[in-house]
Amino acid sequence: MELSFQNKVALVTGATSGIGESTAWLYAEAGAQVFLLGRNEKKGRSIALAMQEKGLRAAYFHLDVTDEAEVKAVVENIYKKTGKIDILVHSAGFGVRTVFTELSYAEWQRQIEINLHGSFLIAQAAAKNMKEKRYGKIVFISSGSIITGTGGGAPYVAAKAGQLGLMRAMAHELATYNINVNVIGPRNIETPMFSGVYSEEGKRQLIEKIPLKRIAGPEEIAGLALYLTHDISSYITGQFILVDGGRTYSS
Ligand SMILES: NC(=O)c1ccc[n+]([C@@H]2O[C@H](COP(=O)([O-])OP(=O)(O)OC[C@H]3O[C@@H](n4cnc5c(N)ncnc54)[C@H](OP(=O)(O)O)[C@@H]3O)[C@@H](O)[C@H]2O)c1
Repeated sequence: MELSFQNKVALVTGATSGIGESTAWLYAEAGAQVFLLGRNEKKGRSIALAMQEKGLRAAYFHLDVTDEAEVKAVVENIYKKTGKIDILVHSAGFGVRTVFTELSYAEWQRQIEINLHGSFLIAQAAAKNMKEKRYGKIVFISSGSIITGTGGGAPYVAAKAGQLGLMRAMAHELATYNINVNVIGPRNIETPMFSGVYSEEGKRQLIEKIPLKRIAGPEEIAGLALYLTHDISSYITGQFILVDGGRTYSS
């Protein structure tokens, strides 16, 4: 079995920061042709350029996952250029914590739109092309908070749990086309989103609750994304995998 990703075309959303950025780097280093999708043009272009300067195959495309027309156009454009889409890792996500009883309907809708509707739009666009080739691997980066209810506000947790249902339905329906769909549930990963929630003192207190006694790096999620989108894991589909340093079930 070919262990590199040399013949693979990989799309990564939220590739301008944190887990998405780290995942895009790992694919590029593993030989894939990587498309970095995200809203931050300056950052996206500079990451793609840094990859190209190392001789890696990467390109950046602007993508807001809530913009249906843009999602369809970007995925179609990539498909026309490459002739296939093998892998989608959907890492784009957003959350702000608000006291439930103070939450406005507009804020609820905003977070559902980014985290859940965006997942549908990008996954459907990619799956259509994967179906034609009868090959595909899709991973959603959800959240461990769908088990605990903590770590995010209600719309974030509800949308991230929605990704699980979406994944299960997709895995069931798309298996016949040789498309695997799985969800990763991270907790405590050192990224800009995480640092926006936890102060340094908050991190120290959190580490005490984690059996592995540390916060993880985004590359520790990227590694699992690569595993789940490699043929080495071809019998795994419809699964939710929690990556939390042992925290969730330790007390
Ligand atoms: N870090 C953790 O501990 C943790 C825990 C549980 C779940 N997660 C999940 O992991 C994923 C990655 O998060 P992260 O920790 O790496 O945070 P991050 O560094 O803030 O990255 C989030 C990425 O999502 C992008 N994004 C947000 N809204 C978007 C939209 N409408 N269209 C396209 N891109 C959009 C952001 O782009 P902009 O820069 O343009 O906003 C950014 O690139 C998220 O889905 C998050 O919910 C993380």
